Amino acid sequence: MSERVIPLIEQRLGPLAPPPAALAATSRIVPNGLLADTLGRPLTDLRISVTDRCNFRCSYCMPKEIFDKDYPYLPHASLLTFEEITRVAKQFVAHGVRKIRLTGGEPLLRKNLEILIEQLAALRTVDGLPLDLTLTTNGALLARKARALKDAGLQRVTVSLDGLDDAVFRQMNDVDFPVAGVLEGIAAAQSVGLGPIKVNMVVKRGTNDQQILPMARHFRGSGITLRFIEYMDVGATNGWRMDEVLPSAEVIQRLHAELPLIQLSPSVAGETAERWGYLGADGRHDPELGEIGVISSVTQAFCRDCNRARLSTEGQLYLCLFATQGHDLRSLIRGQADDAALASAIGHIWQARADRYSELRGSQPADAAGQVRRVEMSYIGG
Ligand code: GTP
Ligand code: 5AD
Ligand code: SF4
Ligand code: SF4
Repeated sequence: MSERVIPLIEQRLGPLAPPPAALAATSRIVPNGLLADTLGRPLTDLRISVTDRCNFRCSYCMPKEIFDKDYPYLPHASLLTFEEITRVAKQFVAHGVRKIRLTGGEPLLRKNLEILIEQLAALRTVDGLPLDLTLTTNGALLARKARALKDAGLQRVTVSLDGLDDAVFRQMNDVDFPVAGVLEGIAAAQSVGLGPIKVNMVVKRGTNDQQILPMARHFRGSGITLRFIEYMDVGATNGWRMDEVLPSAEVIQRLHAELPLIQLSPSVAGETAERWGYLGADGRHDPELGEIGVISSVTQAFCRDCNRARLSTEGQLYLCLFATQGHDLRSLIRGQADDAALASAIGHIWQARADRYSELRGSQPADAAGQVRRVEMSYIGG
């Protein structure tokens, strides 16, 4: 297969969506926690990107050639402040959001993140419960920050780790960061009780697929759930090729041959991962050995139950990981809109949502350069 041309175009802002201010001014939607989109999907999960920067350069996410010293990262004034993030998050929670995940880039690079966590931890769901408040990190700064994150009210973390072999991992993060540093971070998170911990491994055939078994062996019985993620065609800079995707079915096959597994039922509706439990000597799932997950966004789309909204670092609301345009909430937040108007705009935007990119993969229109203008995952968050 021929190499893809990497386009040098501004990825962040596609064509403009209808201005939220206009939506806010139309009939008022008062949040009641029961919002649904055009496919009947509720809004229960909000992912907030707190920085577009990262200290890693994973080739599938922020390839060095593009994300170099000249890359136009967002200027500080563009970023939502913690107060702005909390204000908008509160409106999402009023609409039914129960889980908030902080992402990036690498969220632990955002200064004083604990202050934001404290503010978000004080929010209550429509049922009066604390949020499921979590964070995705590459783990590099986790050993140093785990205690402060826990004290601020973070409940759990998900750590990205693409292999246990040091050479393979250093090559994948492309900044020569050692596996041991991430394992230290995971251990620190475990010791302060930031759990249940999940570890996410993006699998690229021919790059780290030989790490599937060692990773499974390492985390089996540790209380940590390892999840294998199909390499996705997110963004427009990672040079994605289908022949580098290792289907989850093959992951399960390879593991099952060595470490027998049984499929488990989903724990909540709209879950990204399919769960598989390790079998014990009696031929049943042994909870002591734990479970793994597979996230099959390429071979088995899970858009039907997709309940996730994404807020970019600068306050653009994206309704799909593969969206080509965002909705500018920052202009509302920094404009005249009061909380009721903000909540109403969010309600209108979600009600009009029809995104289901992974189910339609391949039938998306390309732009004039022959490329689909999608936002980068480092900008809207995984
Ligand atoms: P838990 O609540 O811990 O189960 O988290 P989660 O699985 O909802 O979120 P996480 O960020 O850990 O997701 C893991 C990976 O799944 C992401 O890094 C993405 O690669 C992929 N993923 C998550 N959400 C979506 C989605 O809405 N669409 C697609 N196509 N992939 C997703
Ligand atoms: N395919 C799949 N997952 C990706 N991530 C980033 N880029 C990709 C991609 N191309 C996810 C990984 C990583 C998280 C930060 O983002 O899960 O752990
Ligand atoms: Fe950074 Fe995560 Fe992207 Fe790797 S996958 S470059 S760690 S944001
Ligand atoms: Fe949701 Fe879009 Fe992912 Fe489908 S492709 S699951 S709609 S984020």
